[in-house]
Amino acid sequence: MPDSPAATDPSAIGPLELVEFPHPALRRPAKPLLRLDDAIREAVSRMFEIMYEAEGIGLAANQVALPYRIFVVNCTGRQGLGEEHVFINPVLSRPRGTAVQEEGCLSLPGVRMDVRRPERIVVEAWSLAGEPIKLDLDGLFARVVQHEFDHLEGRLFPDRLPEAAALEVRHQLEGLAQVFAGKQSRGELPTDATLVAELDRLEAARCRA
Ligand code: NI
Repeated sequence: MPDSPAATDPSAIGPLELVEFPHPALRRPAKPLLRLDDAIREAVSRMFEIMYEAEGIGLAANQVALPYRIFVVNCTGRQGLGEEHVFINPVLSRPRGTAVQEEGCLSLPGVRMDVRRPERIVVEAWSLAGEPIKLDLDGLFARVVQHEFDHLEGRLFPDRLPEAAALEVRHQLEGLAQVFAGKQSRGELPTDATLVAELDRLEAARCRA
C-alpha cells in the first residue's frame, strides 16, 4: 500500500481528481488560504486540466477535495482560448438585477436546471501572483463566478431551486448518493471519516496562522 502523501510532508497535496456528490468536501465551507506555495500553484494548474477534461467552464477547490477558497474560470471552456482566471479568497458584492439560466455542475453529473441569480456582481480576490483583482461582471462570467463561489460556501446549485424544481432533482441526487455509497462499500473510495481527516490535514497546513 503506498504511503499517504502526508507521511513525508504534512502539507503535501496528493494527486487531484474531480469528486462527485455527496463527497464531504462539497458540503464543507472552504477556508481562506493564508499561504501560497508551489503545491498550490501546481494544484491550480491541475484544476484547469481537470476542468478542460470534463468540459467545464469553472471549477472550485472543493471539487478536487481541497478545503481552500480558490476557484478557476475560463468561460470558453477551451484550453488556449479565452482567458484563464484564478480567484483566491474571493468576496462578492453589489448584486444587481436578476437572470435565469440553465446550470449544470461537474460534481453533479446529469443534473441541469434553470437557476435564478443576480445578473451582475462585483468580485474581489487575489490572483495566483498575489495581486488584488476587482471585476464588475455580468452575463456568463458573473453566473460562473457565483456558482463557483457557492461551492466555497458548501452550497450546490440545487440549493438555490424553488421547491418544485428541488423535488425534481432530489431523486437524481439520491441516485448519485447511492453510487457514491456503493463505491465506498466496495473500497473504491475511502470512507467519509477518512476523506474528512484528509480535509482537516490540508486545512491545518494552509489555513491557520
Ligand atoms: Ni459546480
